Amino acid sequence: MTTSKHRESPPAGPTRRRVLAGAVGVGALAALGRLWMGESFAAEEDGTATEADTTAAAATAATGTLPIPELLTATDENGVSVFALEAMTGAATLVSGRTTATAGYNGTLLGPTMRVADGENVRFDVTNSLGEETTVHWHGLHVAPSNDGGPQNTIADGATWSPRTTIKQGEACTLWYHPHGLGNTADQVALGLAGLLIVDDGSAGNAALPTAYGADDIPLIMQSTGVLTGGGLVTTNAGFGPSTTTLKFLVNGFSATDSTPTLVTAYRRVRLRLLNASLSDVITVARSDSASFTQVASDAGLLAAPLSVTSLRVTPGERAEIVLDLTAGETVTLRSTVRSSTNGTRYTVGMVAISTTGTDASADLPATLNTITDLDTAGATARTLTLANSGNTFTINGIVGTSLATMNASMLMTTLDATEVWSIVNSSTTIYHNFHVHDVPFQVVSIGGAAPTGANLGWRDTIEIPPSTTVVIKMKFTDYTDSEYMYMLHCHNVIHEDDGMMLGLMVTD
Ligand code: C2O
Ligand code: CU
Ligand code: CU
Repeated sequence: MTTSKHRESPPAGPTRRRVLAGAVGVGALAALGRLWMGESFAAEEDGTATEADTTAAAATAATGTLPIPELLTATDENGVSVFALEAMTGAATLVSGRTTATAGYNGTLLGPTMRVADGENVRFDVTNSLGEETTVHWHGLHVAPSNDGGPQNTIADGATWSPRTTIKQGEACTLWYHPHGLGNTADQVALGLAGLLIVDDGSAGNAALPTAYGADDIPLIMQSTGVLTGGGLVTTNAGFGPSTTTLKFLVNGFSATDSTPTLVTAYRRVRLRLLNASLSDVITVARSDSASFTQVASDAGLLAAPLSVTSLRVTPGERAEIVLDLTAGETVTLRSTVRSSTNGTRYTVGMVAISTTGTDASADLPATLNTITDLDTAGATARTLTLANSGNTFTINGIVGTSLATMNASMLMTTLDATEVWSIVNSSTTIYHNFHVHDVPFQVVSIGGAAPTGANLGWRDTIEIPPSTTVVIKMKFTDYTDSEYMYMLHCHNVIHEDDGMMLGLMVTD
């Protein structure tokens, strides 16, 4: 373990945020617009932003261009790709007159995209400069429990955590990384601690799709957020409700609520990697002209075949990849409809307006993108996991997973190479939950007794469980065991997760 090289003794969060509040006075969009241009934030951090800086920032914001998170370059250390991430705090003005404390990796909001290949040896050097404890979990990545970044992998303020692994995903997919501490996941994700982790593989399906990051392969990190009167971000489900809370839809950190950002590509075909990084809201994406578009991946891999859809419901933590074929002179606007955890509609926004200058001819998408072999469940262990709530106490099988002692005492135990079939029962009558399990992706067996269709035929690691409904999934626990570190399984409404809807799972030899 090494300590932060960034500063000798980091000031406490609130103190630093006050300093930043004075420094960044040009509005959220300006601050956010700058974030992605690869400029150093040293000036703001020192509280010495110049007039020239703020002018340039404002100009960036005025164009209303979709910001694209930077692609993080790894350094090679004897065949190991080393990615350096630093979690740090910042501030932005999302609502005029209110200063909002934020956080990000290598910047003050969200984090860079990391891109790895199946089989690659990687190390993530994560330095915590937040002024409080954190963890970083690689959502969807098949890694050993000790490298998973769950609640047992805490990184003290000022410390660096350096998990090392070989990518054994076996799928091309869009994953993401975010904090996973006990009781503070929602707080830290809300501040902006989230980034994408793209896994490439050598498959023909992946090769047939656009892969030029930022050119025709575009991330869309979607966040439904709320700003309180004091400027803080909402971190409870109740906090979204009052009229004094200002709701904002952020896409790659840009407020689409204030204006729909534009994306002009030089290609006719674009691949969009959608992530719902909201705490608890469900986002339905559609074209504003209601035309169909093509889904090519669910959250844990490419679909067997391109799927024509007219809308796409993405629950918190989920990813989906879509492809649009554009024609010069045409603008395609994607709109997002945002719903609460009880499925009440909050609002619809124009999320991004996409046009092309390209005249290249796109080949047809291949009829087959992936081969998905049905998991054999002969001899599988069956379990029932009941998700329930009583007020703001959220449980799985009656257990409130809010302390490591409880997680240890109540963890599920399985063995290496075991196949399991889990019936996930949502016994809440009005609240939607969405279930996520670490380590390995799963296949859907049934939803409310019916066989899965569409994207639910693909690999998943997160799935919505509607009220009073049972979803059956199956998975196989390959490659990794431990006798000390657990994986987690939980509701990915991270507010429910913090309120106890989480259990540990230990895979032993
Ligand atoms: Cu996205 Cu347990 O996490
Ligand atoms: Cu996860
Ligand atoms: Cu839930």
